[in-house]
Amino acid sequence: MPAPERIPAGSLTAVDLLTRGELTVRGQIREASNAVLYCTVAYEEQSAACVYKPVAGERPLWDFPDGTLAQREVAAYEVSEALGWGLVPPTVLRDGPYGEGMVQLWVGPAADAEDAAAVGGAELLALVEGEEPGDGWKAVGFAEVGEGRTALLVHADDVRLRRLAVLDAVINNADRKGGHLVLGEDERLFGIDHGVTFNVEDKLRTLLWGWAGEKLPEEAVDALGSLQGGLAAGERLAGRLGELLTAAEVDAVRERVAALLAAGRHPGPSGEWPAIPWPPV
Ligand SMILES: Nc1ncnc2c1ncn2[C@@H]1O[C@H](COP(=O)(O)OP(=O)(O)O)[C@@H](O)[C@H]1O
Ligand SMILES: [Mg+2]
Repeated sequence: MPAPERIPAGSLTAVDLLTRGELTVRGQIREASNAVLYCTVAYEEQSAACVYKPVAGERPLWDFPDGTLAQREVAAYEVSEALGWGLVPPTVLRDGPYGEGMVQLWVGPAADAEDAAAVGGAELLALVEGEEPGDGWKAVGFAEVGEGRTALLVHADDVRLRRLAVLDAVINNADRKGGHLVLGEDERLFGIDHGVTFNVEDKLRTLLWGWAGEKLPEEAVDALGSLQGGLAAGERLAGRLGELLTAAEVDAVRERVAALLAAGRHPGPSGEWPAIPWPPV
């Protein structure tokens, strides 16, 4: 095999660094349901923190084929890039100390920071008394909060969350909960943990139902239009998704994008699947 081409340090993109850098495991994220390893990746003088989820550490699920979650995470990144909103941290598929897996740039405070667990988008979600979400909030639904009491679950009426809701509708995300929202530098919002996505069945399960049935904003229609172009046969994105997903799953992405554009509205729950992940954080 020829040696990999050298690229001058300093000109590396995050994807290049994640792909070519040397991966060193620093620790394991304990609360995770799959093997999620906190790592550093280094190439010459550049380095970054990242997560590595080896395929071998994936917990089997009844409704997704075994050993495919890492590919789905990378496919979610590719679709996010095509929408142009940078919602998913750079994510690649590569070999690592425990075999092939997904490697994703770490966003938000370092894992060893004391408040690492508190970096989620918790302030974007709330439980409120009464039946009205209040100014600046959107209602998700009523939730049991113990002792027979219910409260209204709400999320912020926030442009970043609204974009994420559009991404989730496209990738058919079955697990958009509070802990999968991460605030990075400059108030940038990222979505993480996209292993249970791209099913051919409708599995959208999310906290971000606040815009269900509402007209899509113009920027979403534009972004979906360019995504649709990228999904046409022969385009780079279509080819890339074809490497990561089954042909039926790629077709289902095209169908969801076409349906969103035809309806011009945010989707509502299908009714066949619990629409809210529990617990919500
Ligand atoms: N790219 C990332 N940047 C920052 N934190 C992350 C990232 N990926 C995962 N984490 C942290 O690790 C935890 C577990 O990761 P997650 O992707 O949710 O794993 P699992 O598939 O096991 O649920 C997350 O809740 C989050 O706190
Ligand atoms: Mg998770």
